[in-house]
Amino acid sequence: TDPLKALKAELLDVALEAAHRAGVFLREGRPDDLAVAATKSSAVDVVTEMDIASEKLITGFLGERRPDDGVLGEEGASFEGSSGVEWVVDPIDGTVNYLYGRPDWCVSIAARKDGETLVGVVHAPMRGETYRAALGEGAFLGETPARVRPAPPFGQALVGTGFGYLTERRARQAEVARHLVPKVRDIRRGGSAAIDLCDVAVGRLDAYYERGLNPWDFAAGDLVAREAGALTGGRPGEPLSGELAVAAPPGLFEPLQGLLEDLGAWHD
Ligand code: IPD
Ligand code: CA
Ligand code: CA
Ligand code: CA
Repeated sequence: TDPLKALKAELLDVALEAAHRAGVFLREGRPDDLAVAATKSSAVDVVTEMDIASEKLITGFLGERRPDDGVLGEEGASFEGSSGVEWVVDPIDGTVNYLYGRPDWCVSIAARKDGETLVGVVHAPMRGETYRAALGEGAFLGETPARVRPAPPFGQALVGTGFGYLTERRARQAEVARHLVPKVRDIRRGGSAAIDLCDVAVGRLDAYYERGLNPWDFAAGDLVAREAGALTGGRPGEPLSGELAVAAPPGLFEPLQGLLEDLGAWHD
């Protein structure tokens, strides 16, 4: 059998189990009086004790099952491994939703090797949904193949986005959204970048864009979206990155990317 295929199958298995364990912990263990534990890059960039505990649970599990792999996690987990595989972990994507008891938050786990994301899992416990993808093997919501919605005319596109935590950047992002709103069907700000990307993958959004993401926000969702038929990228000709993330089906991706370039969505 193909060793790469076997590796992807193993990594997917591990990612699914880690995400489910964290999901049960977060759903059942959410304190009624959950509070902000600390702020990070700005006063609105919050972290709770549950973000930290979830990351510990996930990295502990990964360390047991794949002790030679590296890990990069939002809440500080960072170690290099010897296997060449690196896990990219967002222990709660959508912390503000989780804090307020809103349902759209998830656990996002991806594994990369040689700069390529091999598998991605986005588990959204309150939706009861798990999205997964393996490179070249398609994307799934549960056991159902995920497929993007065919591109609508630009004016009929439902477009998801998000606002980063840095104050100046938010003002700039609002400015870009102000120009976009009259040109499309509507805008959604769901509060979890990973879920936004998966929503594109299953046709619950036509497109998604955001400036200022980190690898743990997009690693898994980017693969899910691509394997479901979306194009993803950054500025024209650039790969999706923290500078800019755009995801949409062919036919909508290009004009959206072009408009975002014209609006300067990539600069602060
Ligand atoms: C945030 C969410 C949000 C996006 C922010 C992210 P967090 O991640 O994905 O939707 O707009 O840019 O930082 O902090 O909830 O893990
Ligand atoms: Ca965060
Ligand atoms: Ca995140
Ligand atoms: Ca997070």
